[in-house]
Amino acid sequence: MRLPATSRALRASSGRWSIAARPTTIPRSIPIPSRPALSLREWSSTTIRRIPSTASPQKTQQSTLKIENEAYKTDEWTNTPDTILSHVGRRLYLDENHPLAITRKLIESQFAGPEFGNYSEKNPVVSTKNNFDVLGFPEDHPGRSRTDTYYVNDKTVLRTHTSAHQRAYFQQIARNEQTRPDEVGYTIIADVYRRDAIDRSHYPVFHQMEGAMLWKRPDNNPLSASKETAAKIMTDLQKIPSHDVVVEDPNPTIHDQRNPLQDKHHSAEEVEAVAAHLKRSLERMVIKIFTEASKAASNGGAEVEPLKVRWIEAYFPFTSPSWELEVFWQGDWLEILGCGVIKQDLLINSDVPNRIGWAFGLGLERIAMLLFNIPDIRLFWSRDERFLSQFRAGEITRFEPFSKHPACYKDVAFWLPPAAVTGGSAAGGAVPFHENDVMEIVRGIGGDLVEDVTLIDEFTHPKTARKSVCYRINYRSLERTLTNEESNELNLKVREKLVEELGVELR
Ligand code: DAH
Repeated sequence: MRLPATSRALRASSGRWSIAARPTTIPRSIPIPSRPALSLREWSSTTIRRIPSTASPQKTQQSTLKIENEAYKTDEWTNTPDTILSHVGRRLYLDENHPLAITRKLIESQFAGPEFGNYSEKNPVVSTKNNFDVLGFPEDHPGRSRTDTYYVNDKTVLRTHTSAHQRAYFQQIARNEQTRPDEVGYTIIADVYRRDAIDRSHYPVFHQMEGAMLWKRPDNNPLSASKETAAKIMTDLQKIPSHDVVVEDPNPTIHDQRNPLQDKHHSAEEVEAVAAHLKRSLERMVIKIFTEASKAASNGGAEVEPLKVRWIEAYFPFTSPSWELEVFWQGDWLEILGCGVIKQDLLINSDVPNRIGWAFGLGLERIAMLLFNIPDIRLFWSRDERFLSQFRAGEITRFEPFSKHPACYKDVAFWLPPAAVTGGSAAGGAVPFHENDVMEIVRGIGGDLVEDVTLIDEFTHPKTARKSVCYRINYRSLERTLTNEESNELNLKVREKLVEELGVELR
């Protein structure tokens, strides 16, 4: 089973922007019922709605949202609850003894100056233009949907990925051309936000790192000089130390249908060179991380297999050709990152029309979970000293669980509103029901006391064609034992809210 690369990959080809794959490598101390092989997607349509859907309206909406000392006007698009905003500003990646900061440093060490500047982005509010439009996301991409993304208002969202800053950093490279000519690349770390499933490896706030590197080409007719450009890139490639880890890379760099050359702008020779540089740079970074992970695992007594990596063809709206890098780790192939040759239109729109280059993005939590053997993504937000005191800057150590509190499972079964049964297509107006709205309600009420929400049953009435679903909610605190009354009370509120906000009928 595969974990999504950047925590959730943006593969348009999947028809869904977040692929809710379940991890098998992250140790689970207590068996959790796994998601049955039922498809919910029939009713959780990913069809785009450029009209605000009725899903989870904010009942008592303030007229502005204050985020990082800025006031943002709200409107009918707003769907960002205070429970999410309460995470803004923690900047876990700057707490030098925090596993996320230690992981950040490890990655940044592979992208050092003077070629790379290492940056972070504090304010998570970005325009829909920067998050989607300039990156070439089609109007109907599911990622734009209010069911998947936290809108501050019609024009602004909580960034769903660090790629939202690509344009600004390309512009910075252009601005600094005279003062910092050597800085031709960057890494950015930031918190990103997505409405998504609830389980031990998904949290609505997580962290991504983005990186890119550019090379100059002549201003006029760059294709006529593509041989020289390719040669320059190949010279830079030789400077990256090679490695002896087995790499599977069976596909051609360029494939007309699956992974096309941007032939208006690039020659095959240039793209071969950019791809070679990209691949060796990222292999080196991933090998560094997993060598550290192997050391920590074998110190902890785990048996460690030799490292293997492989390249998979991928699709992102802002790169072509594109790939994902996977690592064979403890018996599974794991997606680690997405990357590719930057779309030239993006560079043209970002004041660097005369450059060519690569970019990548990865999710930090999943790497940190593997490195430090952290079993539950909620732990990253813990203020419990029993968690925080276990980590030291510059050291990769295995997390020792300090408690194992009992799980408390509650099932919630309900009939979907009649319109949802038909699939609620865009043509039929707003889609009244989406699984992420259930997740958001549970999250809003249970917060970090919910470990996991799993669809355990789905049923269509043979006569009425009405659809019923049953979710199993696992209430479990990381820090203390929850009483049955507490879980019952939370679950009662969840049930009420499902009726009130989604119009479902409880069973
Ligand atoms: N932003 C992508 C995601 O969230 C990851 C990504 C893929 C970033 C390719 C990139 C890239 O810069 O070139 O899944």
